[in-house]
Amino acid sequence: MEHKPNIYENKKDIVTIDGPSGSGKSTISRTVASRLNFTYLDTGAMYRAVGYKARQDGVDLEDGDALSCILDTLDLTLLPGNGDTRVLLGKNDISSAIRTAEMGLVASKVSAQPVVRRKLTEMQQKIGEQGKIVAEGRDTGTVVFPDARYKFYLDATPEERARRRSLQLLEKGEKADELDILAQIIKRDANDSSRAIAPLKAADDAVIIDSSNLTIDEVVCFILEKISASLANSSK
Ligand code: DC
Repeated sequence: MEHKPNIYENKKDIVTIDGPSGSGKSTISRTVASRLNFTYLDTGAMYRAVGYKARQDGVDLEDGDALSCILDTLDLTLLPGNGDTRVLLGKNDISSAIRTAEMGLVASKVSAQPVVRRKLTEMQQKIGEQGKIVAEGRDTGTVVFPDARYKFYLDATPEERARRRSLQLLEKGEKADELDILAQIIKRDANDSSRAIAPLKAADDAVIIDSSNLTIDEVVCFILEKISASLANSSK
């Protein structure tokens, strides 16, 4: 088979895509990673896995010491693929169990604990050492990879995010109450933006994209064009 040279080969590049829940980050990050032939790093899945384990062990979500013990022995494997990242806790596949609205709120709670942020940030930075990563989350451009070469912040109105989320659920044949979803989105945004450490916010040097009126493809193209343009400029 013909080998298509990849212009990004051999570069230790990191792309960060941050933003609130429902902004389209996951699909967009996964697609950008696949188009660049980079590894996709879903940092939210890591916070969800910690929340899941805490719930499983009956640990108080605000008990830093107990959460620290969980993190010390956390046997977490992330397997990025075509769809959502597969997440294993030991040998147990928890991919679907962590991707519920309830687990989103649990993850948001444990993510406010300094010990959780410190340890997961270290794990993420270790993964990033290999380069060629598209990392998505809330603080990947501000805290985890402040020196990332390409930073994006993806936003959309809460109403549009709730509309998208309820469509997704309906497509899966699940029940969706758009007003309930909107209330959850607003609650999670408030938790994530108001916490003392690594709150949800755009890095000063991030390109901000309001995706409210854009399709996934349009956002992906925009991001890839920005990366190409920046690459072209830096090689002049
Ligand atoms: O992206 P997500 O919905 O899977 O994230 C779940 C929660 O995890 C989110 O509400 C806040 C937290 N999180 C975080 O604090 N920092 C990150 N980099 C990613 C997620």
